[in-house]
Amino acid sequence: MELPTGAVRSSALCAPMIGIQANHEKVLVIDFGSQVTRLIARRLRENGVYCEIHPFNRVDDAFLDAFAPEAIILSGGPGSVHSENAPCATQSVFERDLPVLGICYGEQTMCAQLGGSVEAAEAREFGRANIEIVAESPLFDGIGGVGHLEPVWMSHGDRVRSIPRGFRPIAASENAPFAVIADESRRFYGVQFHPEVVNTPRGMLILHNFTHKIARLKGDWTMAAFRDEAVARIREQVGEGRVICGLSGGVDSSVAAVLIHEAIGDQLTCVFVDTGLMRLGEADQVVSLFREHYNIPLAAADEGERFFNALVGESDPEKKRKIIGKLFIDVFEDKAKSAGGADFLAQGTLYPDVIESVSFDGGPSVTIKSHHNVGGLPARMNMKLIEPLRELFKDEVRALGQELGLPNSFIDRHPFPGPGLAIRIPGEVTREKADILRKADSIYIEEIRKAGLYDAIWQAFVVLLPVQTVGVMGDARTYDNVLALRAVTSTDGMTADYFPFDHDFLARVATRIINEVRGVNRVVYDITSKPPGTIEWE
Ligand code: XMP
Repeated sequence: MELPTGAVRSSALCAPMIGIQANHEKVLVIDFGSQVTRLIARRLRENGVYCEIHPFNRVDDAFLDAFAPEAIILSGGPGSVHSENAPCATQSVFERDLPVLGICYGEQTMCAQLGGSVEAAEAREFGRANIEIVAESPLFDGIGGVGHLEPVWMSHGDRVRSIPRGFRPIAASENAPFAVIADESRRFYGVQFHPEVVNTPRGMLILHNFTHKIARLKGDWTMAAFRDEAVARIREQVGEGRVICGLSGGVDSSVAAVLIHEAIGDQLTCVFVDTGLMRLGEADQVVSLFREHYNIPLAAADEGERFFNALVGESDPEKKRKIIGKLFIDVFEDKAKSAGGADFLAQGTLYPDVIESVSFDGGPSVTIKSHHNVGGLPARMNMKLIEPLRELFKDEVRALGQELGLPNSFIDRHPFPGPGLAIRIPGEVTREKADILRKADSIYIEEIRKAGLYDAIWQAFVVLLPVQTVGVMGDARTYDNVLALRAVTSTDGMTADYFPFDHDFLARVATRIINEVRGVNRVVYDITSKPPGTIEWE
């Protein structure tokens, strides 16, 4: 269960602390609102380079002085340099003797800002395209020389019409004569395509060439280094204080707890609230891992009864979420107080939660679901927040967990929502329903693991539908529950595709569940993607 995303959101109001990685090489990614800007940061970090994303309208001279990047990347974005108030980079980006790579819109604004021009292309390019290299460049080291054709992913309407003084074309595509341009003396590069997406097969190498060959970075960002530095930072921040950490069984809170424990030992107390809405065996696993394996003080409480009682008669999805969220805070607060209180509340906040997004229309976004959280707790209990994973992406948290010796079964677990099984039981939640769901879910996951598919799937789970159907078992009529199986692939949970199981697999799971779980006589498979569906059913 990924706990407390709400406090995460509240802390997102302050920008990531600049300069916290002062002893590392840093790249600044200036965001112009592309859907895939985060992928730029992830690819750089996979190449061992620390980077942060900041919105274009927050990056000014003072920011650049404070951040002190070794190189700058300008992201893509939905804007057009011809529109009124077109987003642009502060001019000083180009006046600091730093290597700059402009991607898609980033290339266009760089051209427009340095004296070139951009036009609406007659033929827009979306999807796969080939670029032909027309001049040697370190950007294409290990890729090819003049005449080489390289597949890339394009997504643009506008294109560069004339390049600024000092630039020359490096590669061209059918519809973009300036698909790649460079001013090598100033180390300015522009690419019309998106090297950060997997559909550009060698995009990672192109970004590596920019950071390592052109910007001459060494790639000094490793989880081993992060671990040592984080431990030192936590010690400094906490001093003699006491920290309380809500454990959920999810990877983020587990990694945060183990890291903090390494830093401050018994000044940390963990609290685990069993809501009765967890997966099969989950509560026992959390307790034994932390108490026995890591010897971390843990206050654990079986509070299932309270949660089921609070949910009696409620079937509205949002109200269910609110009831669980509020009760969770009450119980957590009680446990925290009886464990002796604390000065700090630890949270597994991740970098994607703190990246500020660029809004072009300035309008509020619609709340699809109110996430479970303990957002109000720090203020209510007069605690400060400690968020040791604030700078990490999920895959980096997993790498850090490995570094800290957490078992793979914890690290590689599919995400689990804060409100737990309650949002997989449309309608009223009861203990009986939760028990049915738990059993069916564990069979499904066991079969997925046996088939070797667990890691290929972002999230798989079972939903207990609020309908009964007629069936026949042996010679008898049954009138029992229907379960829906859900499995999706995704990179960040924002969008998702259903997983294409083969029919034999689905039939095997359905048969096992109906034979082994009393109260179920029908199983269906959910083939909805997100959008239009969401991953969870509520
Ligand atoms: P949806 O259903 O919105 O879910 O497509 C996207 C991802 O978020 C998880 N999820 C939650 N995680 N607290 C959480 O920590 C919540 O209240 C919550 N609701 C949904 C969901 O499991 C999926 O991974």
